[in-house]
Amino acid sequence: MNVAIIPAAGSGTRLGGKLPKQFLPLAGIPIIFHTLLRFEICQDIDAIAIALPVSEIVEMGDAISERAFHKPFHLVPGGRERSDSILNALEAIAGLSPEIVVVHDAVRPFISTSDISAVINRAKEIGAAILAIPTVDTIKEVEDGLIARTLDRRKIYRAQTPQAFRYDLLLKANQAAREDNVPSELMTDDSLLVERLGAPIAIVNGSPDNIKITTPEDFKLAEKMISTF
Ligand code: C5P
Repeated sequence: MNVAIIPAAGSGTRLGGKLPKQFLPLAGIPIIFHTLLRFEICQDIDAIAIALPVSEIVEMGDAISERAFHKPFHLVPGGRERSDSILNALEAIAGLSPEIVVVHDAVRPFISTSDISAVINRAKEIGAAILAIPTVDTIKEVEDGLIARTLDRRKIYRAQTPQAFRYDLLLKANQAAREDNVPSELMTDDSLLVERLGAPIAIVNGSPDNIKITTPEDFKLAEKMISTF
């Protein structure tokens, strides 16, 4: 059993308005539903867990029923930081005995089903895999407004989601990070927790279309992209 975990409990309103960005309409449909549809139609996904603000759980349950999704959904209260939301979801799905969990941000609606399957298949082989794209820019590490060093661009990738892991590995990585008091706000993606355990994580080449809708500019781009997606 492979389970998708969709963290959607952020309160980010950087796009303006009162609604968190994952609930803003894109082509008339909340962004999160575009994302959920990709996982609903991906044949390698058996169930979907969504971490939500507590205030949204009932409404989301109703909306999912109305939209006639067929896969089992588990709606989980989110936590203070993204990584807390992920841990809540991991604990909530323990009873399903998942083999692979696939974490994907609610605000990346342009994910392809083939890329979801690709990270799952690599994670089955080696335990963990993430979608990432090689950087085209030269990356500088900066301290106090001055360049501290230039990183070797040939080795730099931009991490995206989905990120897929053997369930036990991601749970252990989350527990270890908390035992070691890693601040939640530094846990900006899931693979870094697994890196801390020294476990191998494969890179699967992603697509620049898999944007994370964060700023008003991203939202404008998403509106253009959705008409041809
Ligand atoms: O804030 P950021 O853009 O990194 O959020 C990425 C994803 O994590 C979003 O889908 C957001 O809703 C989710 N999130 C969450 N719980 C939080 C914070 C963010 O599920 N406490």
